[in-house]
Amino acid sequence: MRAVDIIHKKRDGEVLSQEEIAFMIQGYSEGSVPDYQISAFAMAIYFKGMNAQETAHLTLEMAKSGDQIDLSPIHGIKVDKHSTGGVGDKTTLVLAPMVAAAGVPVAKMSGRGLGHTGGTIDKLESIAGFQVELSREAFFKQVNEIGVSLIGQSGNITPADKKLYALRDVTATVDSIPLIASSVMSKKIAAGADAIVLDVKTGSGAFMKTLDDSILLAQAMVDIGTEVGRQTVAIISDMDQPLGHLIGNALEVEEAIDTLRGRGPSDLHDLCMTLGSHMLVLGEQAGTIDEAKAKLEAHIQDGSAFERLKQLVQAQQGDADMIEHPERLPHAAKKIEVKAESSGYVAAIEAESIGIAAMLLGAGRETKESQIDLAVGIDLRKKVADPVQAGDVLAILHVNDESRASEASARIVKAYQLSSSAVEQKPLVYAIVS
Ligand code: URA
Repeated sequence: MRAVDIIHKKRDGEVLSQEEIAFMIQGYSEGSVPDYQISAFAMAIYFKGMNAQETAHLTLEMAKSGDQIDLSPIHGIKVDKHSTGGVGDKTTLVLAPMVAAAGVPVAKMSGRGLGHTGGTIDKLESIAGFQVELSREAFFKQVNEIGVSLIGQSGNITPADKKLYALRDVTATVDSIPLIASSVMSKKIAAGADAIVLDVKTGSGAFMKTLDDSILLAQAMVDIGTEVGRQTVAIISDMDQPLGHLIGNALEVEEAIDTLRGRGPSDLHDLCMTLGSHMLVLGEQAGTIDEAKAKLEAHIQDGSAFERLKQLVQAQQGDADMIEHPERLPHAAKKIEVKAESSGYVAAIEAESIGIAAMLLGAGRETKESQIDLAVGIDLRKKVADPVQAGDVLAILHVNDESRASEASARIVKAYQLSSSAVEQKPLVYAIVS
């Protein structure tokens, strides 16, 4: 077999066999297929696509390229959740303790973030002492004892995807449905969960800008799950504005705590209820979505979801008093108001620009080596459909280093699209694919 023939075949729109896909991915992992051939291969896939079976083969090859976690020592049906990425998305911090309180074991490995704000692991590190590295045995033991553990991705999970993703990033081949679907699902399959709930974002701040493309991506991922025997449900949710009000690491922990206490922003609460209810049904802790939602609401109301977060923090050596008293989380030295320059109604808030503004303040990483500032970020005071008068506060910057505040402010003002006529609330969940 030769890489050039396989690239040629895909370039001409033909269907590749399992052996051909394995040859490319294994060869790339081992170094016998060079970057330039894999780049051409990715570009051929970008233009010609892949059918469901090819995409499943590609996914499994990448999943097999490194460690595959066996979660069988953990009792019960393990349900994982993954978001395709959005600004202000702190759902894992709410969902993990909430669904654990309702009986679904959560053994979740999360990443650090590159860009916008940190990942779940960075956010958790704003809680003093919180340990994100646990041995496999300690991880399993904790989930069996308290139903939940959140740790950093350790070991060697999907190295082929890691290499390919870095190459796609610099060859304009990120936004390809089979490539995104196989990348996401290879990591989920290697991480070992029995069932998977996906939050596929749609809108200006998402990989997929249109609902049609988002549904195609969701369907591709659900098909992979079905093909490999992991039940998968995808929720298509809005990313035409950031989720919730707070963006930044400690700030997002604070908003997650508020939500677990039943006083979080309605969009974050509602999305967590939708994602969580599907996790409960897949985990066989509820027979219907309505029953699942009622159970989750009860765990918020009686304080057990919030208590579970405290237990999680305590079990991983974090300072649980910070959860009880979020004013003890890291706070920035200064707050700066960002004011509207004109009047109208908020039609959309360019999520990506808000993410970049947060990164400029230090909440995210510009390069892998950047240090993030856990305290800084943005508090959005106006959301879609809100009326705005010139001079109203659109957002409050939480800053430690004022040198980039004016650039961040300018980006935020530009990110707000105002309409002269009243704007209707958009749906938060557009579709569910299963
Ligand atoms: N997230 C991933 O993990 N992979 C992609 O290709 C895109 C988003």
